[in-house]
Amino acid sequence: MVRRKLVVGNWKMNGSLAANSALLADLSAGLMSEKIDCDIAVCVPAPYLAQCQAALSGSALAWGAQDVSIHASGAYTGEIAATMLCDFGCRYVIVGHSERRAYHAETSQLVAQKTVAALQVGLTPIVCVGETLAEREAGRTDVVVGQQLDAVLALLDASDVAKIVVAYEPVWAIGTGKTATPQMAQDVHAALRLRLAAKDAGAAPMISILYGGSMKPDNAAELMAMVDIDGGLIGGAALKAADFLAIAAAA
Ligand code: G3P
Repeated sequence: MVRRKLVVGNWKMNGSLAANSALLADLSAGLMSEKIDCDIAVCVPAPYLAQCQAALSGSALAWGAQDVSIHASGAYTGEIAATMLCDFGCRYVIVGHSERRAYHAETSQLVAQKTVAALQVGLTPIVCVGETLAEREAGRTDVVVGQQLDAVLALLDASDVAKIVVAYEPVWAIGTGKTATPQMAQDVHAALRLRLAAKDAGAAPMISILYGGSMKPDNAAELMAMVDIDGGLIGGAALKAADFLAIAAAA
């Protein structure tokens, strides 16, 4: 089973109209010159979705958001409904990023509900799982990420499992420059794929499992060469067009 690689940039809470205009122009220009044979996307702060749609429509670069409400509409101040993301042409939405789990007390049950909300309107959820350094050092990595994924799978209809993307992001590797070794990441990806197979054996081989956590141009190729690493979820390097495109070219 050869899965098409997927490289997604997570801009996090970075950017401005002016900076985005330059970055999007550099990305669009770079797409013309770099040999890129994978799916690529950027997930940006919601206020910039219209700018992305205007700049990227018709290009090979898709876009998306970094969170979504579990509610369809109503009195939920500050939240953003999945249909609103569709209004701006989003293809993806990140759910359960470790920064939201940490800073917004997002539980795996809430992440599961966000996953369902995204699927219901045709968005592709990128379901993030990952362990802390303490959990890894305690030998609990597979249990932790397995429980995070199982909570999502428990809420999905069988027909929906194949529609998700999973991202393994060891918390201790995010923004630290301490990348998981290709074998460390492969071991977790393989364990995640077994969990997916337990839910839907037919879907599991088709599901993209991305690695995130200090993926850079100099380590991307060896990471994505691993059999169960189907691409990357890129933070810091996504804010530099040349680095993001170099990672995509390595896929
Ligand atoms: O969502 C991707 C992000 O958490 C990874 O960040 O800066 O380590 O590539 P970074």
